[in-house]
Amino acid sequence: MDYVVPPPERLPVIKKPKEKFRKLVKKPKEDSRIVIQKAQIRDVEEILELINGFAASNLMLPRGPQYLYENIRDFVIAVDANVPVYSMTATREVMNLIVACGSLHVLWEDIAEVRALAIHPDYQHLGLGSRIVEFMEEEARQLGIHKLFTFTMTEEFFKTLGFNKINRKDLPPKVWGECSRCPKYFQCDEVGMVLDL
Ligand SMILES: CC(C)(COP(=O)(O)OP(=O)(O)OC[C@H]1O[C@@H](n2cnc3c(N)ncnc32)[C@H](O)[C@@H]1OP(=O)(O)O)[C@@H](O)C(=O)NCCC(=O)NCCS
Repeated sequence: MDYVVPPPERLPVIKKPKEKFRKLVKKPKEDSRIVIQKAQIRDVEEILELINGFAASNLMLPRGPQYLYENIRDFVIAVDANVPVYSMTATREVMNLIVACGSLHVLWEDIAEVRALAIHPDYQHLGLGSRIVEFMEEEARQLGIHKLFTFTMTEEFFKTLGFNKINRKDLPPKVWGECSRCPKYFQCDEVGMVLDL
């Protein structure tokens, strides 16, 4: 196991996201058919765009293609089936627009972490974040995991899903692994939250 010291605790400073997103559509259509599904290799570039759009304003940990490819099986996406996107490859395959993502990373026999939850700004407050977390809760149950954990700046959102804030001293050492890769290590403004399944 990596040897990682927990980051020092700081008060949260919430910043408004900078407009780092490709404008997808003005607003999702009333009849938007949004489907939650497991990610595939072809989704990597769009997922990175979503995550790094928020990472640009320090709302999330930035990710690169290596992390995405290595952990693609952790990822869940939401696609708007009403907005076809044509692949740039010779096949001109019709794909769907990825409007949200999240990942479930198993940490140990009894705990998995919710990571990289990102909903495109045009699709927020439509229940997508909740649907993705619930999808991952079901995946965790099927794997035999009984506890979910997350580090977040959006405590209120996770509270609506039944997560509870947990004291840093009560967190298992395994959860600090990602912190060593985080640019906010010395100014950590996230809280740890857990959900018993
Ligand atoms: C936080 C985030 C994941 C929420 O996703 P969402 O799809 O908009 O959330 P939902 O529609 O499922 O919200 C359910 C409820 O949670 C609460 N909630 C959602 N976003 C919230 C926020 N930013 N702050 C406080 N409460 C929030 C609200 O009570 C909301 O109900 P309402 O829309 O009727 O007010 C999304 O805003 C996001 O991607 N933010 C930027 C990246 C980020 O912070 N990710 C989390 C990193 S762990």
